[in-house]
Amino acid sequence: SIEKSLRPQTLAQYIGQAPIKHELSVYIQAAKQREESLDHVLLYGPPGLGKTTLAMVIANEMGVQIRTTSGPAIEKPGDLVALLNELQPGDILFIDEIHRLPKIVEEMLYSAMEDFYIDIVVGQGPTAHPVHFPLPPFTLIGATTRAGLLSSPLRDRFGIVEHMAYYETADLQEIVTRSADIFNTTIATEGAHEVALRSRGTPRIANRLLKRIRDFAEVSPDHSMIDLAIVDHALKLLRVDSAGLDSTDIKLLETMIDYYNGGPVGLNTLAANVGEETETVAAMYEPYLLQRGYLKRTARGRVVTAAGYAHLGRELPPTANS
Ligand code: ADE
Repeated sequence: SIEKSLRPQTLAQYIGQAPIKHELSVYIQAAKQREESLDHVLLYGPPGLGKTTLAMVIANEMGVQIRTTSGPAIEKPGDLVALLNELQPGDILFIDEIHRLPKIVEEMLYSAMEDFYIDIVVGQGPTAHPVHFPLPPFTLIGATTRAGLLSSPLRDRFGIVEHMAYYETADLQEIVTRSADIFNTTIATEGAHEVALRSRGTPRIANRLLKRIRDFAEVSPDHSMIDLAIVDHALKLLRVDSAGLDSTDIKLLETMIDYYNGGPVGLNTLAANVGEETETVAAMYEPYLLQRGYLKRTARGRVVTAAGYAHLGRELPPTANS
């Protein structure tokens, strides 16, 4: 499917994240030379940056199978045992949202990761007894949007820890151009550049916007190539502003300015005001606003910066706390 082919298969095809790719290529080559499983890998960073894709690329480069699951999907120890039981030596278990694993499951992972065994209790009541269950050497790849939410015993068991950063504009532009090609359409260089500038450094957003822009291009009377004018027109209707902020970003900043004099205001209060989960604001919205310099964190809460006021075309009040 198109969705599937959008995902690169190899490190060479994977655009951006150069330092991570370079490191991983070394660790993968070394593990293969030693004929060992790759050490456990933790990928953390905002959603949509390609953590799952990178896990699949690692499996492909290692020449092993990958089993994919998520923290909330593993409800009880038996669910984890079932997953581990299917692994062949060297295989990868990918756990997305690993910060949401139940505590009892997380604790089972400690010995699985460190010494490749688990101890499980079989039977009930007087016949209950522990069973030592050896595992093949395997690689756990964990992904999380919030490394700070992982307990340190779990975090410390990952030998390879990579922070996924927002993509450079040039890299996003290349991704957009490649995706357009996979969609059997053509986008002008300036058009791809504009999508890249307005995608919050996030390939998932860039690809989603590209699909909608392509819709506009295809229904326009003289549809040919996706040019800058079509990109501008579509992004205006999609309410994506010049910096890539969407209506929720704007609402967050405006709420802070209009109701809290620019802050400081707590994250929970802010999330409730715009009708989003605190987790969603913390993982998806706040990191980009911080990196753009529109928001800053203080001990007493979030504050809109002078740059944030300027971006919204608002006058900085003399009493603002930024
Ligand atoms: N599609 C989404 N993310 C990508 C990436 N990092 N490289 C290539 N294609 C992608």
